Amino acid sequence: MRTFGTQGPVNPEVNYVVSRSDEIADFIDRVKNGKYIVLFAPRQTGKTTLFRAAIDALINDAFFPIQLNFELYVDYPAPDFYRSFYRRLCEEIQHVFEKCGDTPSKGLNHFLDNTEVTDQVSMMEFFKQLVSLLPHHGNSQKVVLIIDEFDAIPPDAVRGFLHSLRYIYLEQSDSRCPYSVGIVGVKNITQLNYDRSISPFNIQDEYHLPNFTLVQVRELLEQYTEEVGQAFAPKVITSIHKQTAGQPFLVNRCAQILTEEMDIPKSETITMPHFSKAHTQLLEEGNTNIEQLLANIRENSSFESVLTRIISYKRGVSFNLDNEIISELVTYGIITKSTDRMCEIANPIYQHHIQKNIKPLPSKPPAQTPDTHPH
Ligand SMILES: Nc1ncnc2c1ncn2[C@@H]1O[C@H](COP(=O)(O)OP(=O)(O)OP(=O)(O)O)[C@@H](O)[C@H]1O
Ligand SMILES: [Mg+2]
Repeated sequence: MRTFGTQGPVNPEVNYVVSRSDEIADFIDRVKNGKYIVLFAPRQTGKTTLFRAAIDALINDAFFPIQLNFELYVDYPAPDFYRSFYRRLCEEIQHVFEKCGDTPSKGLNHFLDNTEVTDQVSMMEFFKQLVSLLPHHGNSQKVVLIIDEFDAIPPDAVRGFLHSLRYIYLEQSDSRCPYSVGIVGVKNITQLNYDRSISPFNIQDEYHLPNFTLVQVRELLEQYTEEVGQAFAPKVITSIHKQTAGQPFLVNRCAQILTEEMDIPKSETITMPHFSKAHTQLLEEGNTNIEQLLANIRENSSFESVLTRIISYKRGVSFNLDNEIISELVTYGIITKSTDRMCEIANPIYQHHIQKNIKPLPSKPPAQTPDTHPH
């Protein structure tokens, strides 16, 4: 039996998974058009799950997709970063060959063993030579480089790295290598703190990853029902969507509580009283997503006062991404734009946790007790 996954990327062999076929098709289209794509979205929204599915599809289409992860490189000196980057790249190249049931040529192995990458220039030169050593069939020379947790790139390497990619990008030929690049992370490129003009990534062309729609939440829950035979009352499905606003982790966590932790007999339909219990637990527990939310809020002392204003019915805050605080709160997935162009908290569950954790402003000075003021 599969389960609802809440720890890291989900995999259709062991988890129930929303297919997100339109989103994946859009991502793959951009890759096929040789775009350099930016995919920045808050934590636990399904970025890694999505691009892994895209990579599988690209392998079937005989592209050469290489996936890397920069998570470990925060605070790493640039030359060490490039050396490790190169080692991972070689491992991944071997891995792609294995996945395709192919083996690298002697010439390619010799080249990989005898090359050093220590900076942005040797990286560019490496890619230039790599392309001619890859197999010559279908799209096999079209290297797609996908870098997860890109925002952990060492600050002293980011400029050179992007310059190098931009240099390659401007070649504008089908044989450029990498043919397409996807960088994935939480902080967007403008927040990485460098000159935007050196970026090959078109800010207007940023890839947007929306929360699950009601239809997608239903698609997810129905996979369970089909496998186990236990149904969710229609109102439960709409309530899960409403309370989580389709935030992928929260949807799964709620379904996990209902199907694994509450001991509801599998012969019973899951109904609203069950949902109320699960909902209360979601409001009270400190799962990884909520802990991250609260840690993000504490990161900047201005967040609290802006959030207090957003929550207050009287005042409210208009949605303006030029405001740095608002833009950061959006980056972290804490707030979104309401239909009347105001800021609103991303979902009712976050709203509850924020209200609980923001200290109300004292309305008048605390009363002094006689004991603390001896005559
Ligand atoms: N396609 C999907 N179907 C079902 N659940 C999903 C899907 N994508 C994401 N999720 C839910 O979101 C959680 C996080 O997924 P994933 O690790 O892919 O996100 P992420 O954005 O890469 O997170 P992080 O920023 O922490 O790396 C999963 O554990 C699961 O609960
Ligand atoms: Mg991820």
